[in-house]
Amino acid sequence: MAMASNRARVLPMLLAVAVLLLEQIALSSADFPLGGQATVQLPPAPCQPGFAARAVVLDAHGHRQPAFVAAVSAAEAGAGRCTCSLVVLLGGVKVWASDHLEKFVPAALCRLELTEGGQLRLTDGAGKVGWLSGTAGQGVKALHLDRKTGNLVLLDAQNCTRWQSLDDPTDTFLRGQQRRLPVYLIAPTTTKVVSSVFYSFELDGDKIAAYVNFGETRYSYWELAPPANRTMASARLNGSGLRMLDLQGVTVAQITPPVKKPPVSFLALGDDGNLVMYYYDTQHQKFRASYRALGFCELPLSCSVHEVCSSAGKCKDFSEYADRPPARSGNASCDKACMVHLRGVTTVLRTSSPLTNVTLRECVVQCARNLSCNAALYVKDDAGVVAAAEHGVCSHYTLTAGAREVTDGSRRYSYWVKFPAAAAGGDEDDDDDEDEDDDSFPGKLSTSTILMICGAIDVVCALVFVVLVALYFRRLRKLAGAVDRVVELQEGETEGAGEQNDTRQ
Ligand SMILES: *[C@@H]1O[C@H](CO)[C@@H](O)[C@H](O)[C@H]1NC(C)=O
Ligand SMILES: *[C@@H]1O[C@H](CO)[C@@H](O)[C@H](O)[C@H]1NC(C)=O
Ligand SMILES: *[C@@H]1O[C@H](CO)[C@@H](O)[C@H](O)[C@H]1NC(C)=O
Ligand SMILES: *[C@@H]1O[C@H](CO)[C@@H](O)[C@H](O)[C@H]1NC(C)=O
Ligand SMILES: *[C@@H]1O[C@H](CO)[C@@H](O)[C@H](O)[C@H]1NC(C)=O
Ligand SMILES: *[C@@H]1O[C@H](CO)[C@@H](O)[C@H](O)[C@H]1NC(C)=O
Repeated sequence: MAMASNRARVLPMLLAVAVLLLEQIALSSADFPLGGQATVQLPPAPCQPGFAARAVVLDAHGHRQPAFVAAVSAAEAGAGRCTCSLVVLLGGVKVWASDHLEKFVPAALCRLELTEGGQLRLTDGAGKVGWLSGTAGQGVKALHLDRKTGNLVLLDAQNCTRWQSLDDPTDTFLRGQQRRLPVYLIAPTTTKVVSSVFYSFELDGDKIAAYVNFGETRYSYWELAPPANRTMASARLNGSGLRMLDLQGVTVAQITPPVKKPPVSFLALGDDGNLVMYYYDTQHQKFRASYRALGFCELPLSCSVHEVCSSAGKCKDFSEYADRPPARSGNASCDKACMVHLRGVTTVLRTSSPLTNVTLRECVVQCARNLSCNAALYVKDDAGVVAAAEHGVCSHYTLTAGAREVTDGSRRYSYWVKFPAAAAGGDEDDDDDEDEDDDSFPGKLSTSTILMICGAIDVVCALVFVVLVALYFRRLRKLAGAVDRVVELQEGETEGAGEQNDTRQ
């Protein structure tokens, strides 16, 4: 009986699925035409965990695996919400999404339509627009999926590109793509500690670098510069890896996985901030990493903001490394807050404009006095033996992230973090240099300070993130404009540089 009734329920469902599939196959011919629609029905709210539904818009039938597919995709995204987006999938893995920066939460259904006016948009079928291409009135005739590169393109009657997914911010660089610089990949962090942080991978004319962005501040944690005198103009990913080319198309720098690995399918900026290249494992039909730019301790947020990444790859509290406070660098450093030295520790974060030719003392005292400074890294000059001790490079940080043990045995690094003095010493005197029993407090204190900072941000982070990213992109666009002008100038001049050795990192 139970089986029969089950079957009775299953059959109509199968039929429905079959009809859906037929509909989709009918739609997924060569291009998605004007007036075309693709709809995903959403379950009644609240959205159930694990819910996912897809309507194929365009696919590469009969193309060898893994193939690209464009689809409208709805999925449960926590808190009983269903989000919906236009996506490009490669072998089932999302390589582009219209909601990379901003989520769309429709009520009952999610519909992609290419209007007669040439606007490609996602709506809830009741007037709410979740995403649009901004191409109304530009003579768009069809939506086209490039089967080789996965680029989603809106074409006009002359086959000119009016919009392409390539230009939208995302976290992925696909094989076969060649992009003019600057190129930016963006990925949100998944870490709970500082949720308004996001990562960016930025390919510019003078360097490529990965950044952790936090409010108005950002720090790089991975950089690759071309050899002197070479300017990069475009980036290209092929099966061998990522190559940076100059205006003549000559390779200036490249990042390649070890040889003997299958061809790279795509490069992605992970939500841990790592740069990873993936290849397709045909036997198991899934993507595997063939290259990771950074190890665990080289990532900025592998450990929390009050921990050090040890040489064994473990996260340990600051207190295990703390030198006995108060700081040796004198009275000023313990005014309102104590600067505590962490032995044998440095940070993977780099500031864009460190102070040069300062003493250790100046470096630490300036951080202690500055409310927005929470950590300082002092790097002694290598050069002059006598001068070295006195003059070095000083970086100040708002974020105490990325602390790691010094692994190269160098004694040039001196990393200091701030602890509030009141909580630190209780009612002990600041100048009580010989106090012996103060080893225990730093960890606790740092946690509370940092949580205060981060807690305040968490409250509004959902909003802040979108605003930040918007601001950030406005800035990038300005920058991009400037770079374009520079590139145009250089195109006029024509550099005569011959090919130099490729950089591999
Ligand atoms: C546009 O491209 C398609 C396919 O590549 C081709 O069949 C068509 O003739 C082209 N149209 C124009 C106006 O170039
Ligand atoms: C850079 O270019 C300038 C002039 O184009 C040349 O004088 C200089 O030697 C070059 N430097 C390097 C490191 O190639
Ligand atoms: C990638 O491009 C480089 C330079 O053009 C070439 O030497 C290499 O063979 C290409 N790799 C693949 C897998 O096509
Ligand atoms: C205390 O700070 C003052 C002013 O910054 C400085 O002149 C003095 O030398 C410091 N004292 C010690 C013991 O470091
Ligand atoms: C560094 O500063 C000292 C004094 O503050 C000065 O004598 C020296 O010339 C400076 N060195 C450089 C390289 O600027
Ligand atoms: C305080 O530190 C922030 C961030 O490091 C810096 O931008 C600012 O200029 C500093 N303020 C002063 C007065 O040094």
